[in-house]
Amino acid sequence: MQQYFFDVDDINLSEFKALCSQTVSSEDYHFSSDIQKRVVIYEGDHIRSLISSPQARKLKTELHHCIKEGPGVMTVRQAFSDTKAIDQATEIFLEIIAEEKISKQHRGDHYAKPGENERIWNALQKFCERDTEAFVAYYDNPVLCFVSEAWLGPFFQMTSQVNIVKPGGQSQHPHRDYHLGFQEDSLISEYPISSQILSQFLTLQESVAHTDMDISSGSTMILPFSHQYPLGYMAWRDSKFIEYFQNHAVQLQLQKGDVMFLSPALFHAAGTNKESSDRIANLLQVSSAFGKTMESVDRTKMTKLIYRVLLERKKSHQLRQDELQTIGASVIDGYSFPTNLDLDSPMEGSVTETIWAFMELALREEWPVDRFNECLNEATMRRLP
Ligand SMILES: [Fe+2]
Repeated sequence: MQQYFFDVDDINLSEFKALCSQTVSSEDYHFSSDIQKRVVIYEGDHIRSLISSPQARKLKTELHHCIKEGPGVMTVRQAFSDTKAIDQATEIFLEIIAEEKISKQHRGDHYAKPGENERIWNALQKFCERDTEAFVAYYDNPVLCFVSEAWLGPFFQMTSQVNIVKPGGQSQHPHRDYHLGFQEDSLISEYPISSQILSQFLTLQESVAHTDMDISSGSTMILPFSHQYPLGYMAWRDSKFIEYFQNHAVQLQLQKGDVMFLSPALFHAAGTNKESSDRIANLLQVSSAFGKTMESVDRTKMTKLIYRVLLERKKSHQLRQDELQTIGASVIDGYSFPTNLDLDSPMEGSVTETIWAFMELALREEWPVDRFNECLNEATMRRLP
């Protein structure tokens, strides 16, 4: 019978090396523009032109393949066509950091020594609350939405953490990310290997470059194909694996507006910032509708905030058809479950009405903000125990 439970004594560097030695063939990536250091590169303009075309499904398949059977990492150049939205967001992030520093709540960054790094937890909600117009301009991004859906399907749940690495900020240790990258070996070994592998399909890591990132500024070090090692969650702390990572990891230069997408299971580490300016990234951790996010986000509050902005646009005929899709996908809790089935019973063979459907209806009929908020409160209460 096949073995399903392993512990740290079972990790095997030769198996890891064999997986990490695979090559990338451009024949597998018809829509890409380049392959650099075994990372697949796409152009944002090209992806945008294909999203509503008959080739969209083929492109989604290719992107999914890249994260699963491929190197586990891709970069989309100019995923943000308008870098003004990025600059505006950066200013807001800096304001939030300045305020959090003088507040008692500030807990810093557990990944770095004090003074080397700044971090905003739950930057998604904080950004939305501080300047909803700027938030909408930023998350009205069809590329983020499309690539996230290529990995996770619809109703994904966006979360965001901003990371600013100061000049001299030191590199991280190589690691895997949420879910099991945040657990100790002893707990990981209690999960069957099937669940460990499954967990990689529940999130996608996306790093938005808010500054140009030369390699000397410490752009993320990544080890292509390392996500394919089944026992990787118990291996990344091992000194031999760390040494292999240090000798074989690659770094790519990124420009402001580029986004790197990677499997949460890929071995990676932020590099040392040897430049004289800050390196700023918005780290998006996108979860499947089937998974638990790492951060709790008040999506009802955010939905009310964006409704006000979207309604104004609708009334002035400035709301594009796909705009609700892109922004809503980053904000709304669109999946039908969990809910309270006593209060929110599905019709037979059907599911309960989603917050998403409710938002579409309200916008179509141009409900006043107060009516929308009241109905959203009721719909949210119906889902609670
Ligand atoms: Fe990480």
